[in-house]
Amino acid sequence: MTLLSVENLTTAFQTERGQVTAIEDISFSVDRGEILGIVGESGSGKSVTALAIMGLLPMPPARILGGHIRFDGTELLGLSDRAMQRLRGPGVAMVFQEPMTSLNPVFTIGEQIIETVKAHERLSEREAFARAVEMLERVGIPSASMRMRDYPHQLSGGQRQRVMLAIALVCRPRLLIADEPTTALDVTIQAQILDLILDLRDELGMAVMIITHNMGVIAETADRVLVTYAGRVVEQAPVDQLFDHPLHPYTRGLLACVPTVEQDQDRLQAIPGNLPEPARRPPGCRFSDRCGWAIPACQEALPPLADFGGDHRAACIRVRELA
Ligand SMILES: Nc1ncnc2c1ncn2[C@@H]1O[C@H](COP(=O)(O)OP(=O)(O)OP(=O)(O)O)[C@@H](O)[C@H]1O
Ligand SMILES: [Mg+2]
Repeated sequence: MTLLSVENLTTAFQTERGQVTAIEDISFSVDRGEILGIVGESGSGKSVTALAIMGLLPMPPARILGGHIRFDGTELLGLSDRAMQRLRGPGVAMVFQEPMTSLNPVFTIGEQIIETVKAHERLSEREAFARAVEMLERVGIPSASMRMRDYPHQLSGGQRQRVMLAIALVCRPRLLIADEPTTALDVTIQAQILDLILDLRDELGMAVMIITHNMGVIAETADRVLVTYAGRVVEQAPVDQLFDHPLHPYTRGLLACVPTVEQDQDRLQAIPGNLPEPARRPPGCRFSDRCGWAIPACQEALPPLADFGGDHRAACIRVRELA
């Protein structure tokens, strides 16, 4: 059963150099209880996609140029602020990429978790406190009831990341969007956080969108994978299929040097060259100027995201020749 469906989503930012599109024609869905991994180089539009779903893109400068975002059948684009606020927490919750900027420095972490629970559930102060402590324990904060009184600056980066996860999970969301949830963490904690996300998926039937640069994290957690490049989806497949038979040259490049989860790599560097700036994207296939297999036809038109069977799609006109 589909929980989230994003269709042909296109968003742009107003900049000094005019309007630039950040994501173009993005479509994907997430089923109940499913873990969708989203992978792609820095600037490929992963966070913009997540923020659009949360209704948290700053508008202006951001603008939604088209598309649909449906959560459990409800169109989220154009939903009132109040309705969106009710949805955030028990419906969709997000762990943001920068934990420090999303915690409020003047409130204790306990106050921040309790406030989140109480905004959505009628609990007494004591019940809310107990729920907060339980969640902090689950995300691996030792002496949780004492740490409730700490302010964000008293915690390490990894602990702040875990507090963010506790805030996201405390309302038992139906969809968790985790934007680079483990980048700042050491290897042991990283594995622990990924295990926790997997446990909660099983326990609550929670769906997860996990955004990462780390193919190892994808391999450990995802059921299905979306590969993004320069604001577009270039490949989509069940995780085994993606690792065993990648179709798009970009995905092949990413997989050519898969780091293990143990290697703490936060930039994908398998492919020579850089992601083009939005205003300087080549015509046709956005990857054509870095692709070893490109032919002149690649620059003539945008390749459609074609279906190769078994829920495996890729946007490359040369897939059959390369196979
Ligand atoms: N506030 C903004 N104003 C202008 N452009 C923006 C803004 N936020 C994002 N963008 C642009 O949108 C594009 C996608 O950015 P996004 O943050 O989604 O990338 P990302 O895939 O999350 O990268 P990273 O892996 O570094 O987090 C980039 O070209 C970025 O420059
Ligand atoms: Mg990002």
